[in-house]
Amino acid sequence: MTRYIAPSVLSADFAHLERDLQMINRSEADWLHIDVMDGTFVPNISFGFPLMKPFKQYCTKPLDVHLMIVHPEKYVERFCDAGAWSVGFHLEAADDPLPILNLIKAKGVRTCLTINPDIDVKRLIPYLDQIDMVLLMSVFAGFGGQKFIPETLDKIRFIRQEIDRRGLQTLIEVDGGINTHNAAELFQAGANALVAGSAVFGAKNPEEAIRLMKQA
Ligand code: DX5
Ligand code: ZN
Repeated sequence: MTRYIAPSVLSADFAHLERDLQMINRSEADWLHIDVMDGTFVPNISFGFPLMKPFKQYCTKPLDVHLMIVHPEKYVERFCDAGAWSVGFHLEAADDPLPILNLIKAKGVRTCLTINPDIDVKRLIPYLDQIDMVLLMSVFAGFGGQKFIPETLDKIRFIRQEIDRRGLQTLIEVDGGINTHNAAELFQAGANALVAGSAVFGAKNPEEAIRLMKQA
């Protein structure tokens, strides 16, 4: 199985954003993970549309947008237009995910549905054949630098089994508290893609951290 690493730009140094994006470009990272927080769905505010411009301009890797916002239906198209390669939103933030997924698909952008750790993983089952990727949160969305929740491993195994049983190509991405020490067991449990913020940008050698996670 191809392994994907998606460094989360939330942990980058925004005073040196171009430098940090060039590091990502040189590295073995596959995607740039973009955490958009609205201060309502999560108790934190990160950034929005203005920063999509430099991300798009300076980063050569696909932009993997993770929306932690209420009313995703209002904004998904604008993120598609801003250059997203993939747009993900929280199942628990949507009244009806299907029309929102269709808005993203109509833009030719990849779809992702995500859930916080307290949402029953079984709620993703009806959508697995409608999306390109599921994003399992392994911390509560809102902040970088939190501790990985080990119960996520069983959720990865559960979704992996369901995807394989139905012969689907849906990818499993995992986000939160991921580092060079736990990357191996996440891939073994059936994850395809790992997001890492502090473990990349907080590392002495970020490119090496990315390489180590990918080869874990
Ligand atoms: C949390 C974000 C994550 C976060 C990961 O709300 O969705 O993508 O940036 O950061 P680390 O890797 O530091 O847990
Ligand atoms: Zn994220």
